[in-house]
Amino acid sequence: MSSAAILARHLDDAQRVVVFTGAGISTESGIPDFRSPGGVWSKMKPIMLQDFVRSRDVRREAWTRVFNRTAGWTGAAPNAGHHAVTALLHAGKVTSIITQNVDNLHQDSGAPLEKVIELHGNAAYAKCLNCEIRYEFEHIEPRWRADEDIVCLACDGLIKTATVSFGQPMPEEQMARATLEAETCDLFLVLGSSLVVRPASGLPIIAKQDGAKLIIVNREPTELDEIADLVLHEEIGPLLTDTLALLK
Ligand code: APR
Repeated sequence: MSSAAILARHLDDAQRVVVFTGAGISTESGIPDFRSPGGVWSKMKPIMLQDFVRSRDVRREAWTRVFNRTAGWTGAAPNAGHHAVTALLHAGKVTSIITQNVDNLHQDSGAPLEKVIELHGNAAYAKCLNCEIRYEFEHIEPRWRADEDIVCLACDGLIKTATVSFGQPMPEEQMARATLEAETCDLFLVLGSSLVVRPASGLPIIAKQDGAKLIIVNREPTELDEIADLVLHEEIGPLLTDTLALLK
C-alpha cells in the first residue's frame, strides 16, 4: 500500500486531526529550512532577544536581514502542501494548524486566521516590544534606510519583527490553545519538522500521552520517531496531494 493510501486511511478514521508544521512544509515554496544542509542556521546565527535589546548594531543587523530578505521568510507563495492542509481544514477534517513557521503561508493559502496557531510569531510585520503596537514594514523601511534606531512612536520602546526570537518568551495564549488542541485531538500530524525545539516539540508528546495517534511526515528522521505510530519519509507537497485524492 502506498504512503498516500496509508495516510488517507488514518485521516478517514480520525475525527479530530491537528496539523503541526515546521519549516519543511515551506521548502517547496523556496524558503530554506533551518537545519537541513544549506539551511538558514548554516548561513547566519540566530539573533538572541537580549542581544537585540542590548546592541544598536545587532538591531541594525536584524533589520538588514529583514529588508535584504536574507532568511527568505517573506515574499514566497504557498505550495501544494499548504493548499492540501487548508483543504483538509475546509473539509472539517482538520480542526487547527499549529505552526512553528513565521512565513504566513498557511494564511496565504486560505486557512482562516483563527485556525492557525503561530507559536513563533510572524515575520510579515513588526511590533513594539514594550506596548505591542503593530507596525507594517512599509513604515519601518524608510527609517531603516535613514539608519535610525527604530523605536515606537507611542512609547519609545524598541520595535522588532513579530517573530519569537531565542530568549523571548513564548506567546502564552497560542501555547495554551495549541496544548488544548494536542490534548483533545485523536490524530496529531507533524509535517516538516525536526522536532528539536522546545516547547513546540513537546506538543506531539502531549498528544501521544493523551491517546492520539502520532504521524510524522518528514524527509529525515526526527527526535520523536520512536514514539510515532507512523513515520513517512516523503516530500510533503506530493504526498498530501496524492493523499487528498484518496480520501473517502
Ligand atoms: N518534505 C518533507 N520534509 C522536509 C521537506 C519536504 N519538502 N523539506 C524539509 N523537510 C524536513 C527536513 O528534513 C527537516 O528535518 O523538514 C525538517 C525541518 O526541520 P528544521 O529545519 O529544524 O525546522 P523546524 O523543525 O521547523 O525548526 C523549528 O527552530 O530555529 C527554530 O524558530 C525556528 O521554528 C523554527 C524551529
